[in-house]
Amino acid sequence: MALERTLSIIKPDAVAKNVIGEIYSRFEKAGLKVAAAKMKQLSRAEAEGFYAVHRERPFFKALVDFMISGPVMIQVLEGEGAVLKHRDLMGATNPKEAAAGTIRADFADSIDANAVHGSDAAETAAVEIAYFFPSTDVYVR
Ligand code: TYD
Repeated sequence: MALERTLSIIKPDAVAKNVIGEIYSRFEKAGLKVAAAKMKQLSRAEAEGFYAVHRERPFFKALVDFMISGPVMIQVLEGEGAVLKHRDLMGATNPKEAAAGTIRADFADSIDANAVHGSDAAETAAVEIAYFFPSTDVYVR
């Protein structure tokens, strides 16, 4: 397996639930290292740009409204097979379908307030990481 980086976002619902530490603990136990991190209140333009691929979807406006409803915690995670490993920790998009013990099963309330974001492939991870972090702010762990 290759050493990879992925972009992870703890969304406003999970930040409000005060479970940043619990979620970081899951990353660490799975062997993922935090290579960059910041808390940020996204502007509407930043959230729209980040989710531009979903611009034509019916849930786009609600998704952006939710993503700017409070600060998010954004991190780069590094590790062997980090993209898939992180997606496995997150669980399915709809928490009702998420496997027991996943972040979404434990902390998400609905498909539109689903606690976490994770890049879906190494290529999108590179784009998403660069969207939030200059390369000088991402550390080799
Ligand atoms: P998507 O990229 O399909 O899921 P994931 O976050 O698991 O990669 O969708 C992005 C976000 O859009 C998703 O986390 C929540 C929101 N969303 C909805 O609100 N309703 C929906 O029907 C879908 C598919 C997504």
